[in-house]
Amino acid sequence: MRMFKLTGAAVALMSTTAMVHADGVEVLHWWTSGGEAAALNVLKSDLEGQGVGWTDMPVAGGGGSDAMTVLRARVTAGDPPTAVQMLGFAIQDWAAEGALADLNALAAEQGWDDVVPAALQNFSKHDGSWVSAPVNVHSTNWVWANTAIMEELGLAQPTSWDEFVAAMQAAQDAGYVALAHGGQAWQEATVFDSIAMGVGGPDFYQAAFVDLDPEALGGADMVEAFKRMETLRGFVDDNFSGRDWNLASAMVVNGEALFQIMGDWAKGEFVNAGQTAGKEFQCFRVPGSEGTVTFNSDQFAMFNVTDKDAMGAQVTMASSVMSPEFQVAFNTVKGSVPARTDISDAEFDACGKLGMAQLAEAAASGGLFGSMAHGHANPPAVQNAMYDVITAHFNGEYDAETAASEMVTAVELAQ
Ligand code: GAL
Repeated sequence: MRMFKLTGAAVALMSTTAMVHADGVEVLHWWTSGGEAAALNVLKSDLEGQGVGWTDMPVAGGGGSDAMTVLRARVTAGDPPTAVQMLGFAIQDWAAEGALADLNALAAEQGWDDVVPAALQNFSKHDGSWVSAPVNVHSTNWVWANTAIMEELGLAQPTSWDEFVAAMQAAQDAGYVALAHGGQAWQEATVFDSIAMGVGGPDFYQAAFVDLDPEALGGADMVEAFKRMETLRGFVDDNFSGRDWNLASAMVVNGEALFQIMGDWAKGEFVNAGQTAGKEFQCFRVPGSEGTVTFNSDQFAMFNVTDKDAMGAQVTMASSVMSPEFQVAFNTVKGSVPARTDISDAEFDACGKLGMAQLAEAAASGGLFGSMAHGHANPPAVQNAMYDVITAHFNGEYDAETAASEMVTAVELAQ
């Protein structure tokens, strides 16, 4: 397996290894953790079973920023991969550049318009044309909890911010890590997503992260969200800096830590470790954010190619991704829920069933929002500006009030 980290040498290497993959697909993705790789294998085996070859192009780094940098280098070098894992606004950016293949014929034949929810179609379609195939819906406002520690400390599932803090305090007092966290900008932004939603609710989330209203970005709710991040900072261990998200999940899996706030790709790690939802681990919405879902959808965008065989492989891949059987097989391993609305929850575990029900409820009640941390609330430039402020604050560079006013300035400059 070739694994590219973002070094100058790697970028140089990529530009000299242009290859034609007429016999299959070359897939650029950031699914490198144990749970993610297990899910990716479902896709790989499905395609191999249909005679479509697979060239793996993994770029480590949760959230996909590094993968997107590598993608840009590949395209600039005139050697785009055939299929690319992509999120939200990034899909729209590439479509606007005219780089993506048109999947309309397949979408029409398979009736995608009728089964993919509008919130996803907003990203999968550009100027009315299908340009990507959604593989799942993840959501970011989850807490993952170790059942044994909860039972030992007599903790019930927290239903308010105060109860959540009290539970973390009890765990810390008992010598556990209260909050497993990896100090990387995208992880801090992922936590911030649900903390901000929990403080200000849907109207605030819309105003601050979607409408980019300076009053919301710099206002009292934003200050309070940053204060809550300071509280969380007091519950992480000394070694949090730079830790990968799946290693933080492993701390909850292993009984070292009580909670992790993370998207439901974390469930893939628990499942991959042989644990069962509702038994060894629990899932619940970040207290304060109940009733809402901050989502992101992994999609595969196909880059324009001219070779007929390569085009055929792309269509087979898109068709597989969208099949109901595949959506069940893949998402039960990945931790996400299907990107189609016509799939039964029968094969999903307790957290999957909850996720599917809550997604439908949130969509019906106006509580469904694209995740700021995962490219579904605003374009990459704004998203990265927010990352910078959130992570600088978490690392002690600003107090809460300064961080809120930095949000206003950073977002203004990024637009
Ligand atoms: C998200 C992506 C997920 C996931 C996670 C961590 O952006 O949508 O599929 O695996 O990053 O790598």
